[in-house]
Amino acid sequence: MSDHPAAAATTAHTADAAATGGRERALAALERARRRTTALTDCLDEAGLTAQHSELMSPLAWDLAHVGNQEDIWLVRAAGGMSGVRPDLDSVYDAFRTPRADRPALPMLPPDAAREYIARVRARALEVLAGPVPDGVDPALFEGDFVFGMVAQHEQQHDETMLATHQLRRGPAVLDAPDPPAPTSRAVDERHGQVHVPGGPFTMGTSTEPWALDNERPAHTIHVPAFDLDEVPVTNGAYQRFVEDGGYRDERWWHPEGWAYVQRTGLSAPLFWRRDGGNWVRRRFGYIERVPPNEPVMHVCWYEADAYARWAGRRLPTEAEWEKAARHDPETGESRRYPWGDSAPDEGRANLDQRHLRPAPAGSYPAGAAPCGARQLIGDVWEWTSSGFTAYPGFTAFPYREYSEVFFGGDYKVLRGGSFGTDQVACRGTFRNWDLPVRRQIFAGFRTARGSGEAD
Ligand code: AVJ
Ligand code: FE
Repeated sequence: MSDHPAAAATTAHTADAAATGGRERALAALERARRRTTALTDCLDEAGLTAQHSELMSPLAWDLAHVGNQEDIWLVRAAGGMSGVRPDLDSVYDAFRTPRADRPALPMLPPDAAREYIARVRARALEVLAGPVPDGVDPALFEGDFVFGMVAQHEQQHDETMLATHQLRRGPAVLDAPDPPAPTSRAVDERHGQVHVPGGPFTMGTSTEPWALDNERPAHTIHVPAFDLDEVPVTNGAYQRFVEDGGYRDERWWHPEGWAYVQRTGLSAPLFWRRDGGNWVRRRFGYIERVPPNEPVMHVCWYEADAYARWAGRRLPTEAEWEKAARHDPETGESRRYPWGDSAPDEGRANLDQRHLRPAPAGSYPAGAAPCGARQLIGDVWEWTSSGFTAYPGFTAFPYREYSEVFFGGDYKVLRGGSFGTDQVACRGTFRNWDLPVRRQIFAGFRTARGSGEAD
């Protein structure tokens, strides 16, 4: 791709300090992903791993071997120039060949064989990581150690998918984590305001972030008119008012397809919510609890987010608005990696990395605020945007069309910012996620916007 010039790649790998750092980061990211995969699968028995907990999801045993199969394809074969540990398994773990609903019927490896397979692949992958770029291998894969970062991100994305499978699974809780730190006084009520982002040019996407995926590239400057954005994500308490105002029964608020979907399915509240006497309760990783009013709402689909926004007299932000709010530094005119600057996320700035099994109350993480004042753009809940998933100008598929390109221009809506279940390796100001507008099992919420009417 244009951002991975092969010429630069050859010099980037002459064992200088930067290259070593990239490899060390890659090793840490791969090991971290594997610890998480292991934790998410060792807590269930064989039946729990091979069962299909929801039609929307694969059996966990499929995800388990699929991450190893992708590593076999990209690190052992493509990057390592080796023959592959089990090429015969490619068809079983090809996500395009078999939709999730049909995967239980595949001749999948039983969990113990899957564990053994992915460990063998990993041992070979680490040899590739430790060695020189093999002859005959596409040097672009090695630029900035991209291919290792890509595989670590792939595993972490499946780990988040597996976490969503855990949330769908019925039965006793098997996961635990401490709650996010006690909220500041501002977080406990709902008096959160609007932030303003003045109109003007903004550089969207990146050409320099070494592990940015193809769909985040290249950097390009666009004009974004002035707008106002919610300072924090929409809370359960605010969303509950929409529910109780009859929002799900009022066609005025809904996109026509959303209205048809509500009629067909009878949706009346976020997934996992139910009424218990006068209260709303929810199931969360096997526990039943009152819905906390000050937490960002989650498990709503794009149609619900869109309807809430219209009910509130607002709209969803565009993807460009979201990214400008998250990255634009008005002092320098440049775009940051994260709302707070360029340094890596930590527990004072964002609720990421599955440290907690819930979003933090709205208003948390003041140290993670963007220059415009918006909080919690990174972590807590993925945020639906109004935008469909499309290519940036100058996009080139890399290293394979099926990662992003085949999804462009379809019905997919873009989500931004990551959730409590997203690892930081797969989260940054430019990172783009996408899903169908009916999907509710992902850890997604939203915030609302409106044009500010200010001349720009
Ligand atoms: C970017 C999260 C939509 O899970 O379908 C995993 C990531 N791509 N394996 C997905 C992905 C290939 C993808 N999302
Ligand atoms: Fe995958």
